[in-house]
Amino acid sequence: MSRQPALWPAPDAFLRSERPDQPVLFFCPATLAATYQRFRDGFPGQVTYAVKANDRGEVLENLSSLGMTAFDVASPKEMRAVRRAARGAVLHYNNPVRSEAEIQEAADLGVASYSVDCPSELTKLQGVVPAGTEVSARLKLPVAGAAYDFGSKFGAGEASCAELLRAIAAAGYRPALTFHPGTQCDAPEAWGAYIDAAARVAQAAGTRLWRLNVGGGFAAHRGGRAPDLEVIFEMVRRRTTAAFGAAAPALVCEPGRAMVADAFALAVRIKAIRDRDGAVFLNDGIYGALAEAPVLGAIERFAVMGPDGALRQSASQPRTIFGPTCDSLDKLPDALAFPGDAREGDYVIFQGMGAYSTATVTHFNGYGHILMTTVNGLV
Ligand SMILES: Cc1ncc(COP(=O)(O)O)c(C=O)c1O
Repeated sequence: MSRQPALWPAPDAFLRSERPDQPVLFFCPATLAATYQRFRDGFPGQVTYAVKANDRGEVLENLSSLGMTAFDVASPKEMRAVRRAARGAVLHYNNPVRSEAEIQEAADLGVASYSVDCPSELTKLQGVVPAGTEVSARLKLPVAGAAYDFGSKFGAGEASCAELLRAIAAAGYRPALTFHPGTQCDAPEAWGAYIDAAARVAQAAGTRLWRLNVGGGFAAHRGGRAPDLEVIFEMVRRRTTAAFGAAAPALVCEPGRAMVADAFALAVRIKAIRDRDGAVFLNDGIYGALAEAPVLGAIERFAVMGPDGALRQSASQPRTIFGPTCDSLDKLPDALAFPGDAREGDYVIFQGMGAYSTATVTHFNGYGHILMTTVNGLV
């Protein structure tokens, strides 16, 4: 059951009626519910949500009311956001580097699970985090398939992870293992390779894992064919059984992007089309909700619509796309195929915009004020 009233049938109804000159994010609780159901039906373990992808209260409240009982948090602020939206929810604090003040706050808020990737971060937990709490060692491997390499910042190699697991157990914590194959990962074998390595690490440490957290990283639909999450779920199930046999740990996943991306669309307005070269200036860009474009490429799932609701459908032309700020970096990395009849004042509606959009927006140059509204459907 959604706790958010659906106010508009779809983005076009809102845009035709309100004609906003600001960017608008449209939240569709029904889509979020369908995605959560997909994870629940397919993933062979506990499904949690990485709050960092989108920490809006309505997202957390909806997930909680749909039955989600645990959330991955990166900071005390995210912990408090979960506590406000989902009072009794379990907190997994899987940002492996923390200040002492953050650890104290986490302990005060009753965090149930932590991850670490080096002995000094484990030492910092001792004496503050009660014995018996789950502590995961974070593993890193050189695997391909993600948009960029998460292992360059966090994680320990197999041998260090085995040592860390022994230290976690010796400190009186429940030893577990976690990994993250990297965001927007569409290679099921990345999970397979990590699970095999996790089993080797547990064996080298002589430890039975309390749980294995297979991360976020699941890809969202940004263009071309939609990613097949079920193939990854099946890979996780099969490889866990094959690698661990009777000692298979309980599984957890913590998708951020794939859980929330499809539940939001972003409408931006064409401010200007430059007569010199046809370049398009939008009222949002890389300092706003399109922040990921320089790293992941622009999202290809979009339509252009006039303020009266008419879809622009004439033959497309590649256009350079700029954001609204005075910064020349504020430009999408690739030209977008825009309909030739697109005009100033039209709306561009990008689908799949729920992750790392509202969470990362800045107010650079006085932009970034994004309206939020709720819809029954996104098209
Ligand atoms: C520990 C951890 N879990 C989950 C996530 C979510 O990843 P994604 O949005 O790719 O699913 C991240 C992303 O940074 C992370 O660091």
